[in-house]
Amino acid sequence: MPGEHETRIEAAFTKQSATFEQEALNVAFTSGLPWLIGLIEPDPADRVLDVAGGTGLVARALAPSVTRVTVLDATEAMLATGRQQAAAEGRTDVEFVHGDAMALPFPEAAFSLVVTRFSLHHFADPAPMLDEMVRVTSAGGRLVVKDLVSDADLQVAARQDEIERLRDDSHVSMPTAGIVRTWLEQHGLEATRVEQKVIDRPLEPWLEQSVTPADRAGAVRALLRAELDGGDVTGMRPHLEDGELWFHQTWETTVARRP
Ligand SMILES: C[S@@+](CC[C@H](N)C(=O)[O-])C[C@H]1O[C@@H](n2cnc3c(N)ncnc32)[C@H](O)[C@@H]1O
Repeated sequence: MPGEHETRIEAAFTKQSATFEQEALNVAFTSGLPWLIGLIEPDPADRVLDVAGGTGLVARALAPSVTRVTVLDATEAMLATGRQQAAAEGRTDVEFVHGDAMALPFPEAAFSLVVTRFSLHHFADPAPMLDEMVRVTSAGGRLVVKDLVSDADLQVAARQDEIERLRDDSHVSMPTAGIVRTWLEQHGLEATRVEQKVIDRPLEPWLEQSVTPADRAGAVRALLRAELDGGDVTGMRPHLEDGELWFHQTWETTVARRP
């Protein structure tokens, strides 16, 4: 039986499945894909697993360059959107599997490239997921983890998480910068790249994409405006563009190799 958090994840992403692929609302998730694929350097022989892959944005971008791609996700509605998109794109080489990232339904060493993007911040304890990702990666294979990272100041990081949770109550906490590298090295992997990017995003499409209830969206706006008026630093670095609120996120991508 799913626990409280799993139920929250499924509810949040069932709601978001309709907006997830809308370019106008989620351009930040699609515009960075060519850069990410360039960093990953997929090999034509790669067998790829995209863990907590949602609608398979990353998987579908990798598919033309590799042998086989599997997307695993816990939310059926996200997979259904992904299947529809893949069909619309004429892609028949992407497999969508319903499952839990903490108990992957695949044998050891089944994949040569295992990726996960924007999933870690939904886990209270990322260890079981990382254990599983390492288990299914073959010797010489690569793991790629991309996620938000928090401010170095713990008080500020707590406010960032509060804002992220107001927007999407399935958010738990952002990893700190560099921690993924440490975790992967503790698993015996060798980190080959760690890249950070700062993203500047308009607030309203971000809130609309997540279908955030009006009272919670109002609370997010109020916290950002309060910072502009000299209040608590939120870590979101808000600013105004033509009177509209914008904010920043820092994204970190770690590439590691399993010896
Ligand atoms: C923000 S979305 C990211 C989707 C995709 N990785 C991307 O970057 O486009 C987070 C995804 O993690 C999935 N997820 C969260 N916890 C999971 C778990 N325990 N097992 C599998 N998927 C999970 C959610 O269903 C959701 O689709």
